[in-house]
Amino acid sequence: MKISDELASAIASVTEVAAIAAFDWVGKKDKNAADKAAVEAMRNRLNEIDFHGKIVIGEGEIDNAPMLYIGEKVGKQSSNFGLDIAVDPIDGTRMVACNEQNAIAVLAAAPTGTLLQAPDMYMEKIVVGPKARGAVHLANPLEKNIELLSAALNKPISSLSIAVLDKPRHQHIIKTIRNFGANVITIPDGDVLASLLTILPEHAIDMMYGTGGAPEGIISAAIARALGGDMQARLVSRSQAKGESEENIRIAKEETLRCQQMGIEIGDILSLDTMVSTNDVIFSATAITSTVLMAGISNDAYSRISNTVLVSGHNRSLKIINNRHFK
Ligand code: FBP
Repeated sequence: MKISDELASAIASVTEVAAIAAFDWVGKKDKNAADKAAVEAMRNRLNEIDFHGKIVIGEGEIDNAPMLYIGEKVGKQSSNFGLDIAVDPIDGTRMVACNEQNAIAVLAAAPTGTLLQAPDMYMEKIVVGPKARGAVHLANPLEKNIELLSAALNKPISSLSIAVLDKPRHQHIIKTIRNFGANVITIPDGDVLASLLTILPEHAIDMMYGTGGAPEGIISAAIARALGGDMQARLVSRSQAKGESEENIRIAKEETLRCQQMGIEIGDILSLDTMVSTNDVIFSATAITSTVLMAGISNDAYSRISNTVLVSGHNRSLKIINNRHFK
């Protein structure tokens, strides 16, 4: 049985309510309060929808924010239609707190057993659009992938743009890309939106590369699978991503254990099919603050307006839903 259009629309309403709840915290310099509001709204809405679902990967443990935790059951549980859910109630909590652009509420859903279950930890990711599907490989040196990307897109290296999160751990990557002659688009936060813009052909990003959150990774894989792009990834421990402090080494040990319990290995290359093993996958993102693809939440005396991108893998479609919610 496929995910129905009705269920897909209900899923879009989940990111809508999360974005509306987070909007109240825009610019208030309180990341955790914003996250908590989005999580609660998301959970409440999920539990009104007729399906039985499980969170296979959720946001929260990396920064101890409130979470929709891995393994949590969501949905009314009455229907026998089962869904795996990957959530990030806010991708860009810092952007919400600081009233910066590109903060979105996101979720991916696919039939039970088709999304990879993984701990909430770091993940190295490489994402390309449909034209470069199969061209790059995470095991290659970055320079080689840039050459392969250039050949696949039939574009000179000097015209390629690669999105990289602007984090201390990526400074050497940014330097390597620039030294090799390609352009870097640095993004302060929010690699799900960067993945989406990479996969959509009309935007200026040719590849997204670097280490970010694993929930964001599985959600990005859902977009790639739905729209014919490509992605590979590998889990990265906290100490590999952020340095070998006592605290990071302790967390890395816990992550290793959790990976063992879930039957995955840190450092193994995960193919797109391993992360999302079906085309019947839904991705929904509602803008909290404005993005290039859709306007953020707007508010007037009577209502709030939300803009959501809803991608459906089984019919390869993307629609933007402009919804006015009366108070
Ligand atoms: P959150 O808002 O969910 O914390 O995520 C923002 C983000 O930039 C993600 O897009 C990215 O995958 C991750 O954080 C990177 O983590 P960190 O900020 O710890 O380097």
